[in-house]
Amino acid sequence: MSVSRRQVLYVIGSSVVIAAAGATAFSMTRTPGAALRPWSAAGTGYADPRMRALSYAILAPNPHNRQPWLVDLSQKSKITLFCDADRRLPETDPFDRQISIGLGCFLELLSMAAASDGYASDVTLFPNGTSEERLDERPVAEITLRRDPLAKAPELFRYVHDRRTNRSLYDTSRPIAPDVLGQLQNASFSGLTIGTTNTEDGLKQLRALTWTGHEIEMLTESTRMESVRLMRIGKSEIQTNPDGIYLGGAMLEALNLVGMLTRETIGDPQSDAFKQGMDMFRGLLNSAMGYVWVVTDSNSRADQIATGRAWLGINLRATALRLALQPLSQTLQEYPEMAFARVEIHKALGAGPGQTVQMLGRLGYADQVPPSPRWGLETRVASS
Ligand SMILES: Cc1cc2nc3c(=O)[nH]c(=O)nc-3n(C[C@H](O)[C@H](O)[C@H](O)COP(=O)(O)O)c2cc1C
Repeated sequence: MSVSRRQVLYVIGSSVVIAAAGATAFSMTRTPGAALRPWSAAGTGYADPRMRALSYAILAPNPHNRQPWLVDLSQKSKITLFCDADRRLPETDPFDRQISIGLGCFLELLSMAAASDGYASDVTLFPNGTSEERLDERPVAEITLRRDPLAKAPELFRYVHDRRTNRSLYDTSRPIAPDVLGQLQNASFSGLTIGTTNTEDGLKQLRALTWTGHEIEMLTESTRMESVRLMRIGKSEIQTNPDGIYLGGAMLEALNLVGMLTRETIGDPQSDAFKQGMDMFRGLLNSAMGYVWVVTDSNSRADQIATGRAWLGINLRATALRLALQPLSQTLQEYPEMAFARVEIHKALGAGPGQTVQMLGRLGYADQVPPSPRWGLETRVASS
């Protein structure tokens, strides 16, 4: 749908109304408070140490904010973690690789939170085995919490509340110093390598490749529509389904109200909303001032979980360094239309035969953004 002059004027009119009502006051009413409550509730109000640790774990980064975790607490001192099959991303993540990485982020945050509360966590991955094709109904992990006088909060734990996926424009006048970038590589997981770049050639090549990946994902109907279906536009949709891709704030709500920004317009490659979205995204990609990525020597479920654990650390380290970070997963995805770009990104990042690039993210300096919505912890507990 193309945007008519009248619609533009209407939006401008809405903005005037918003301004007249007091822009600050209006935008404050658009904050989806209930959907953000898990951020302030973490660590509070639970007698059970498992619930205290889980209340942090649900703040983990995860693909499309699907929050695929489901836990069973019916066995004393034990947490059994499952993947909620309905929360996978079959088009963009056909083998549940990224979903598994998100579950790895969850496990790392769970262990950090337990440690900060004086508990060691013994984690057994896939106690009943797993499938490399799709995750199934078998548990992803069993975690036993055990009082440990030596357990203490890891250094990075205090950045949990400030960690974000930052999708804004990064400051292209501020390079990232090599020693800052180097600190993101401070992690040791066997069979896993963390790479970074901030060179002119590296930025040029990766800006171009990540754009190619974005174009492919957005011009392939099945993958585009998977994302479009998961869009939550405006406060009411975000509060009803605090997951997926959230488009909040006063301006986006006004555009939605007048029909300029809807699932239909965003999903239609001929629409102005689609074209403007693509232009905007290109600008964001071109503001990358560095990249960080994770490569594993093989691609087992255990490798994917380890990647998630490492990625959570990278995310928190970036937060500590005041670096903004946004994963850019498109070129790493395994559906046929992406095959060529996937080969190119593996070459560009120096991944050898058998190795898999599991995560790639852009880095830079930008203002802090609000936290993303979460389902409340109780909704993710299967039985207790
Ligand atoms: C495996 C994985 C892949 C991701 N891929 C992308 C991506 O391609 N683009 C993006 O903007 N965010 C990506 N993210 C970030 C998630 O969208 C983000 O963690 C989620 O929306 C929750 O937001 P938060 O990180 O601010 O808490 C990815 C995260 C993970 C763990």
